[in-house]
Amino acid sequence: MRLALLGCGTVGSEVVRLLHTQAADLAARIGAPLEIAGIAVRRVGRDRGDLPVDPALFTTDPLGLIKRDDVDVVVEVVGGIEPARSWLVEALRAGKSVVTANKALLAEDGAALHDAAAEGGADLYYEASVAGAIPLLRPLRESLHGDRINRVTGIVNGTTNFILSAMDATGAGFAEALDEATELGYAEADPTADVEGFDAAAKAAILASLAFHTRVTAADVHREGITEVTVADMASAKAMGCTIKLLCIAARGTDAAGRETVSVRVHPAMIPLTHPLASVGDAFNAVFVEAEAAGQLMFYGRGAGGAPTASAVLGDVVAVARNRLAGAYAASESAYADLAVRPMGEALTRYHISLDVVDRPGVLQAVAGVFARHDVSIATVRQGPAGGGPAGRGEDADLVIVTHVAPDAALAATVRELRGLDIVRSVASVLRVEGGA
Ligand code: NDP
Ligand code: HSE
Repeated sequence: MRLALLGCGTVGSEVVRLLHTQAADLAARIGAPLEIAGIAVRRVGRDRGDLPVDPALFTTDPLGLIKRDDVDVVVEVVGGIEPARSWLVEALRAGKSVVTANKALLAEDGAALHDAAAEGGADLYYEASVAGAIPLLRPLRESLHGDRINRVTGIVNGTTNFILSAMDATGAGFAEALDEATELGYAEADPTADVEGFDAAAKAAILASLAFHTRVTAADVHREGITEVTVADMASAKAMGCTIKLLCIAARGTDAAGRETVSVRVHPAMIPLTHPLASVGDAFNAVFVEAEAAGQLMFYGRGAGGAPTASAVLGDVVAVARNRLAGAYAASESAYADLAVRPMGEALTRYHISLDVVDRPGVLQAVAGVFARHDVSIATVRQGPAGGGPAGRGEDADLVIVTHVAPDAALAATVRELRGLDIVRSVASVLRVEGGA
């Protein structure tokens, strides 16, 4: 079984190492030895340390490598949309199986790859694209295929989980926690994709597509990052017995006409400390799946890093290599449900709103009236002197309101109207609440 490796960076070099150290076991598991036919990189002359591989295998011609007759499987660990899409479409159409970790490409245009795989009669596996080492896509794609998944809630970005965990543990602000994440090598030099939620949104699209048998792209995902999460937000969460996580949430629903829909969103949210996702600290990932018959399932582990991600890549390589030896390939994409994606405004959620209000008769009634006008039901109200202390700030009061579940548009409109009231001095914090707090 001959393999073309596209990319030999953080993940690719660990794929090479694992292929070397596990060679005998991999051959036994597959039923044939696995050999590297070539490795496409950008810079052939780059110092790759003590990588156990023949330097003559390196090339800067990925297409030439893919087209070679002696290549059975293409492993893509380069990343980005183009030229990766063109390479993989070419490989799949030519009937070569593909293993990729490229979440950006799958979320942007997975359809092009799935269509090419169906056309060429080839396997397309991408376990490493979501939550690194965690076996998650195979359970969604195979083990749970007899069940009906209703909701997927996940922490799928390690960098932001590290930052939020640090803010929670030390009281640090976002910028300080980001600096620590950068120093420790979790955050990249340009952390935009992580902290603005693009990386998590790509993963959310892949998860939703698999969980609900439909096509969801990154553009369908409502996305908010963590850059606006403040020390005050974290303090509010703690006061509620919660913490804040960047969650990806994909859920079934129904539209006004009674048709089944799906909503997919990524945003920071408060979750109760009793929720299984609350204890996922550091740069770990976890995904909580709720299915009709299986009930609640949780998948936990390392979502990034060379070796953990290479583990998922190699698992896929063994699967597709076995299929090729058997002259078969796995069932193609399952997108028969073809569900409409519901806009964020219709997603059902709850808000935690912290207000600084004027402390005088009628204020609570006026505030409650705003919620009533938007048909938002209040679950709890807590009032104390502004500033938290017994003396407070004199004329003001702090008001903390948690709502029942309501459409996001109604909740957002409530906050907008509250901001305009002259009795509301400031809206100190607004956070969605998930997970039953
Ligand atoms: P790196 O940047 O470390 O490595 C990229 C590799 O691709 C390098 O070997 C580079 O060559 C090569 N490359 C870049 N452009 C080209 C090109 N035009 N032609 C040929 N080769 C090229 O990336 P990672 O290993 O971190 O990530 C790879 C993929 O895995 C991405 O899709 C990423 O999203 C995904 N992933 C990464 C995880 C991680 O923890 N790093 C976790 C999960 C998924 P050269 O070595 O010469 O520079
Ligand atoms: N930047 C990603 C993270 C890497 O922090 O989780 C894995 O996709």
